[in-house]
Amino acid sequence: MADIKGKNVLITGGAGFIGSHLADLLLERGAGKVVIVDNYFLGKPENNRFAQENFENFKIYRDDARDFGTMQAIVAGESIEVVFNLATIALNYSFFNPYTAYKVNVDIAETLLRLLKDGAYQTLIHSSSSEAYGTARYSPMDEAHPLNPTTPYAAGKAAADLMILSFYQVYGLDISILRPFNNYGPRQNDLALAAIIPLTARRILNGEAPILEGTGLQTRDFIFVKDTARAFLTTYEREAARGEIINVGSGREISMKDLVGAIARYFDYSGPIDYRPARPADVQRLCASAELAKTLIGFEPEYDFERGLKETLDWYKEKYL
Ligand SMILES: NC(=O)c1ccc[n+]([C@@H]2O[C@H](COP(=O)([O-])OP(=O)(O)OC[C@H]3O[C@@H](n4cnc5c(N)ncnc54)[C@H](O)[C@@H]3O)[C@@H](O)[C@H]2O)c1
Repeated sequence: MADIKGKNVLITGGAGFIGSHLADLLLERGAGKVVIVDNYFLGKPENNRFAQENFENFKIYRDDARDFGTMQAIVAGESIEVVFNLATIALNYSFFNPYTAYKVNVDIAETLLRLLKDGAYQTLIHSSSSEAYGTARYSPMDEAHPLNPTTPYAAGKAAADLMILSFYQVYGLDISILRPFNNYGPRQNDLALAAIIPLTARRILNGEAPILEGTGLQTRDFIFVKDTARAFLTTYEREAARGEIINVGSGREISMKDLVGAIARYFDYSGPIDYRPARPADVQRLCASAELAKTLIGFEPEYDFERGLKETLDWYKEKYL
């Protein structure tokens, strides 16, 4: 079992939603140094306030993780041993700039693989996404489910996964891939490109009607962000995870309609819903099989959806009121 204590760790996308929670967790668990690289495309300085105020061994680089020279210098300069790759540009960006939405995933993975292959650091834990699967052909979806990405973002995620796995096969590098389903929790971006929970919370708190795209019957599997952060750490610790792709989900499916209903109930909102046309190529159904995470690395979520949603909405309420 690998131990994070004393290890020098780099998190790409560490000023983002999941990356900032992962940084906090690794610092609390005794990592030697936690370095984040974020270009602040969606990341926010306030996401790292806890880490900055409480840990001297936390360091921020405002840089582009695609750039090989930059990453080479940071990895060498900080004596990095483990990299958690979480940087990406949100799915919704696929509809504005499909090229970058695709390519950023591939380019960062390539840079990190080159450094790993050169021996610049030892272990890469990479974040894929359930979006790489596309709409469920069967449910729950295990890791053998076919890849059928329906957006450029998802195609970039799938492409990066395949490239990373090929480097594991050919060079035997120390690599694991996590495939999180939909995350939610405090700090999730609630402005441009926001996902449904923060967007709905913000609209209701601003006196606007919540939006439902399409029928609202699309389903997702939601996992609380602190559980996902723990899944990343556990994957590092368990060497059985090397060379594997592992789902991180709850195994429970929730429709967008039910989700918006639950958020409306929390805020005592009984006004209208703003129905909009379906998003192009929207995935219709996602539900994880969480079996491999349980059997291979002993990971199970601690938060059920009701508890996680309350903690999340309490946080947005405090932020806005
Ligand atoms: N949030 C979810 O529901 C979800 C679901 C499945 C998978 N994931 C994956 O988890 C990871 C983290 O997602 P998140 O929700 O925290 O997203 P996020 O947008 O909050 O965080 C991503 C971070 O990457 C940064 N970034 C973007 N391009 C960069 C670049 N070129 N160089 C350096 N930093 C860059 C952004 O500024 C941002 O802070 C991503 O890989 C994402 O695909 C997220």
